[in-house]
Amino acid sequence: MTGRRTPALALVGVLALAAGCAGPQAQDETPLVGIAMPTTVQTRWVADGENLSAQFESLGFDVDMRYADDDPQAQVDQIQAMLDAGADALVVGAVDSKPLGPVLAKAHDAGVKVVSYDRLIRDTGDVDFYASFDNRRVGVLQATSLLQGIGVLDANGERTKAKGPFAIEVFAGSPDDNNATVFYDGAMSVLQPYLEEGVLVVPSGQVEREDVATQGWKAEVAGERMTSLLGRYQGGTRLAAVLAPNDGIAQAVLAATADLGYTPVVPGQDAEVPAVKSVAAGVQFSTVYKDTRQLAEVTVEMVQDLLRDSEPEVNDTTSYDNGVTVVPSYLLPPQLVTQDNYRAVLIDSGYYSEKEIG
Ligand code: BGC
Repeated sequence: MTGRRTPALALVGVLALAAGCAGPQAQDETPLVGIAMPTTVQTRWVADGENLSAQFESLGFDVDMRYADDDPQAQVDQIQAMLDAGADALVVGAVDSKPLGPVLAKAHDAGVKVVSYDRLIRDTGDVDFYASFDNRRVGVLQATSLLQGIGVLDANGERTKAKGPFAIEVFAGSPDDNNATVFYDGAMSVLQPYLEEGVLVVPSGQVEREDVATQGWKAEVAGERMTSLLGRYQGGTRLAAVLAPNDGIAQAVLAATADLGYTPVVPGQDAEVPAVKSVAAGVQFSTVYKDTRQLAEVTVEMVQDLLRDSEPEVNDTTSYDNGVTVVPSYLLPPQLVTQDNYRAVLIDSGYYSEKEIG
């Protein structure tokens, strides 16, 4: 993954030089950034952590990075340990916002800046900025791709004459992850009119967010749920598509449906290597690529600005109300990846090498 960081580092390095003596290197003590990451289960978080720490370190920051193994209390303890070690700023990819309030309040009392990383930290005023992707757009891309896959929309996103009814099933991410709600809402905003018209039907009847959630984003939980829904499709209704919120769940759904004798249309998210290979082979229908190099770059700039008391650049000041405050955000654009464009988007851009995907 080393090669992927070069452009981001070059840019941040130039910015740091341009900022001259206001940069962190000019302070008396080397600034310490605490990076609290949620999990290593999805490989994207491993790349996020590598990108963030490499970029901070190249600018002369000390880094204390810890992964919480999807355990909310472990993450609280890790953040407390970062504060005890003298962190000047925190970058937090939350497992679950609920238990984070008190430790983030302590951070703020101590003057420590907090950037919510990729996942919005909810229900606290003690979060300064949010760096993420346009998560609603992720859901819109997934649902649009699903409709293209079953032929209700054409390649340009225009309505075709296909009337269905097409049977689909719906999966969402973890109930404790704000992103999962935003992905789901974005996707349902596209699918709902087709459900109302009867072009799409959900034979299980499970569509509501709480009925389709996947606790902890666990692929095995999604696989079990898909298996439990299979009866009605064995020798009966054709399962045209399954809305899967990320690649881990998409792959579990595809594994669970492998014996149907055909492949339902399944979108995903994260452009993880196994999923991209599957898209290239024509099995998983699509994925959504989010360039974590860029997310790291935006986050590092935010932290630099916060530590030199200048206002970080944001491009959204309305979408992310965390229940206490609207958190100023920088949202990057996600991109749909299909069998047609994976090579151009992921390999030609240097995100993956030919060898990694081939
Ligand atoms: C991220 C996704 C990821 C999921 C599970 C979400 O908050 O935005 O990229 O697949 O968490 O880790």
